[in-house]
This record gives sequence, structure tokens and C-alpha cells, in this order.
Amino acid sequence: MILKRPSEIEAMAAAAAINRAAMEAVAERIAPGVSTAALNAVAEEVIVAAGGTPAFKGYRGFPATLCTSVNEVVVHGIPNDRPLEDGDIVSVDVGTFYRGYAADQARTFAVGEISDEARRLLSVTERSLYAGIDAARPGARIGDVSAAVQDVVESEGMWVVREFVGHGIGREFHEGPDVPNYGRAGTGPVLRPGTVLAIEPMVTLSRTAVVIQDDGWTAPTETGVLSAHFEHTVAVTEDGPRILTANEARSPVATGGTDGA
Ligand code: MF3
Ligand code: CO
Repeated sequence: MILKRPSEIEAMAAAAAINRAAMEAVAERIAPGVSTAALNAVAEEVIVAAGGTPAFKGYRGFPATLCTSVNEVVVHGIPNDRPLEDGDIVSVDVGTFYRGYAADQARTFAVGEISDEARRLLSVTERSLYAGIDAARPGARIGDVSAAVQDVVESEGMWVVREFVGHGIGREFHEGPDVPNYGRAGTGPVLRPGTVLAIEPMVTLSRTAVVIQDDGWTAPTETGVLSAHFEHTVAVTEDGPRILTANEARSPVATGGTDGA
């Protein structure tokens, strides 16, 4: 685990602010009839105009700025020209490099009117993210974050995806440690001030495996059940978790729930 000095946390906050601006621009555009390729273009424009670099584009050959994962796709969907439809859910994942530091963030959006169960999936997944964030305090362990996420999801009868996990982040987009969304409290690496984590629960409505399509990226549920994904980049500070990718003016505390970012 690579600890960051306070000046490095500020650099990461600057990357995160650009990343958040891209996410907010995408949020404003989401509607039935809009393609994920159009959303991708909006995000890329915001990041580049701010002097950042899209972190995903070219990463292990990934072709776009956003991952856009519709309905049963859990993660790593590739933007395309198919118009989003009323009732879809779309997970948008975006990463930015700025002055040598990375930020990473994801959010699942409703397209028009969605079903009650889809709405519940989004709210439980977001709530599990904030439970995980709240556990990311000095002296706590990775397993405390994992267990906090898992508790929320399973107490609502939903399923935590095991095939993908969160991660440390900093000068590298993916650093140690892994941050699973399942596990036992009191286990794993100890969190210290200067630890920075991408905490990113991926949740499905019922138990399922996740498979990878022939494009090498798109990762849908095997059973076809809906999936959601919420992620923030979070610094562990002496004062507790600081959500770098949240709008701190609107969301000063980690436990606040919906902050729209
Ligand atoms: N947020 C994703 C992650 O944590 C990033 C997608 S990686 C890419 O792994 F390859 F698709 F860019
Ligand atoms: Co991530």
C-alpha cells in the first residue's frame, strides 16, 4: 500500500475534481434516445478541456474514455451508437489522470422511468458504497470496508459481485491493496492516513456469475439479472474518510448518502 503525503492527496483531489466534472456533464445528458457514444464524447471533452487525460483510453487496449454498462452488464461496457431506452439503467465509470495522479468514479443512472426493483438496486448499491466509505478510517482494516459493503447488500437480499474488486489508486490507476466488496471485518491490511482507495461495489439483484463477452471487455451477469456499480476515490485522513470524487461543497461527510457524484 503506497501512502500519499498531504500534498499528493491535494493533487489527487485536483484529478478527482476534473473527473467529477466529467461525470456531472454525463449526468446532465442521460436521457432516452442518447447513445453511450455521445456520453463518451461529452466526458472526453470535459477531461481534455481541463488539461486531464482520460485514464481508461488505451488502458490494456480499452478503446474509450468511459465504461458504459447497460442493464445486465456489470462493468467494462464499451460505448456504442445504440440509443438508451426508457427503463434502462446505465453504469458510467470514468477515470482521469492529471499531473501524474489518477481518480476513478462510477455511478449507475436511471434512463427515464425505471422499475421499482431497478430503483431499489441503485439505492442499495449506493448505500453500500457509503457504508464502505464510512468504514475507511485510520486503524481500520480493508476487511472492515468489505464487510460493511457486504452487510448492506446481503441484508437487502442482493448479491455482491466477486469477480471484480476495488483497489488502491495514486500514481498508478490500480495499486494495492485489493478492496473486495465481501469479506470479514478485522482482517486484511490496516488503513493509515494517506491510504487512498477506489471503493466500488458491484451488485446484482440475485446470485449470479459474471462472464466476459468476445470483445474481451463487456462483462454481463450470466443469468441476465440487472447490475449496478457505484464508486468513489476516497482518501483515509486523520479526520476520517475524505471522498475526493464527491462534490465536497454539497457532501462534507462520508456518510451523507446521495451526493449526486
Ligand atoms: N474503474 C475501473 C477499474 O477500477 C476502470 C476500468 S478499466 C478499463 O478497474 F480498462 F476499462 F479502462
Ligand atoms: Co476502479
